[in-house]
Amino acid sequence: MKYFIEVWGCAMNEHDAETLGGLIEQKGFTKADNYLDAQLIVLHTCCIRAKAEDKVIGRIGALSKIKKKKPEMIIAVGGCMTQQEEVAKYIEKRFKEVDIIYGTHNLNEFDDMLNIVLADKTQVRSISKSEGMDIKEYVPMKRNDDLKAYVNIIYGCNNYCSYCIVPYVRGREKSREVKYIVEEVKDLLSKGFKEITLLGQNVNSYGHDFKDGTDFSMLLKELDGLGDFRLRFMSSHPRDFDFELIDTINNTKNVCHQIHLPLQSGSDKIIKEMNRGYTKEHYLALTEYIYKVMPDATISTDIIVGFPGETEEDFQDTLDVVENVGYDQAYMFMYSIREGTRAAKMDNQVPEEIKKERFHRLLELQNKKSLERNKEMLGKTYEVLVEGFGEKGRLTARTRGNKVINFVGNISLKGNLVKVKVKDYNTWSLYGELIGD
Ligand code: SAH
Ligand code: SF4
Ligand code: F3S
Repeated sequence: MKYFIEVWGCAMNEHDAETLGGLIEQKGFTKADNYLDAQLIVLHTCCIRAKAEDKVIGRIGALSKIKKKKPEMIIAVGGCMTQQEEVAKYIEKRFKEVDIIYGTHNLNEFDDMLNIVLADKTQVRSISKSEGMDIKEYVPMKRNDDLKAYVNIIYGCNNYCSYCIVPYVRGREKSREVKYIVEEVKDLLSKGFKEITLLGQNVNSYGHDFKDGTDFSMLLKELDGLGDFRLRFMSSHPRDFDFELIDTINNTKNVCHQIHLPLQSGSDKIIKEMNRGYTKEHYLALTEYIYKVMPDATISTDIIVGFPGETEEDFQDTLDVVENVGYDQAYMFMYSIREGTRAAKMDNQVPEEIKKERFHRLLELQNKKSLERNKEMLGKTYEVLVEGFGEKGRLTARTRGNKVINFVGNISLKGNLVKVKVKDYNTWSLYGELIGD
């Protein structure tokens, strides 16, 4: 029997799907290349914006139709979207074809749920209302890649940014014990993985729940000693990301000088309304210090336009930060109302046309900045990790700053670190030439 998992949302969701894959393969299923070849289809969902949810509902509708002709098909829907009680109820009622509905805290029970469906063909629903996931170690995992791996270090989120649904669907912060993280990273390195990305909604809170002084800097230092590899992490919170951590990153050999530092807004008033707890000035001081001690650093960000009450002046503050920092990459979003969050109740919502118009202006500025950042790389030589084939038969590889460079070379270089000189660029891509030693 074959299975197919479709994932929406963030890196944490992608990584959760690797756990689902591991649990499913233990039951003897193998991975299918598409929906039509699969007996078991899992939709691992996201609810960060309305659009994400709409896509899932559309997909369930399409699959339900297919199932009418293929009744043996098993459909599972779960993750952040179904962790919301009313959404789970809606799906259960409207789509009788859905066999399994699971919440974010029930991921590790997926194999038990599957057993029930395989034996009885009954609908199963498991959504725990607990404050968070009970961390389970040594869960099997079907990794999507053999060079790069995600490693969870902290689950959940305590920040309650006023626009965000994540704390409601992922529960409270729970850090994973250092010894298990170290063990997992050691195991990955022994299997030939070359790059590890540590995951958490706010990695800077790592260890605080242990209340014994453990923190993220300590973890980075500990992992840095495990070998020669690339170590990345996301996301950071500008409130908790401090100068000492920047020094720690700079003083390690493996931590890449790549920082994802979500700005959300450049206006002090909006940052406050968002419950983010920093100022434009503090944010700019951080990015300035990052470039001062690590001139080779790349910085990326997340930005929301059209948060309730955002005026043209507030938006100008956001553009000002984007102009000032010169992000290598920015993930930009129009504010989307999420029921149950504080911002959803605010009565000064920004009209859609204004959100769209601001979004396009921001996009235009960021594209200009991305082009400038890529131009700075022209003629310079970078050590890149070769990932495989990219566009037009070229190899695709990444710098330590996480920039993708395409170049002509032999696929046998996959997994190797090579030197590439940048010969051409545009807004989204860089092209290089392999340099011999
Ligand atoms: N924990 C991470 C990322 C959370 S979700 C962090 O704090 O950085 C990824 C991004 O989605 C957020 O950074 C934010 O920019 C965006 N986002 C979250 N809620 C949103 C909403 N209601 N509307 C639009 N964008 C949103
Ligand atoms: Fe959402 Fe804020 Fe938590 Fe990120 S830090 S997941 S934006 S509440
Ligand atoms: Fe989406 Fe859940 Fe991630 S809401 S962004 S998949 S934590």
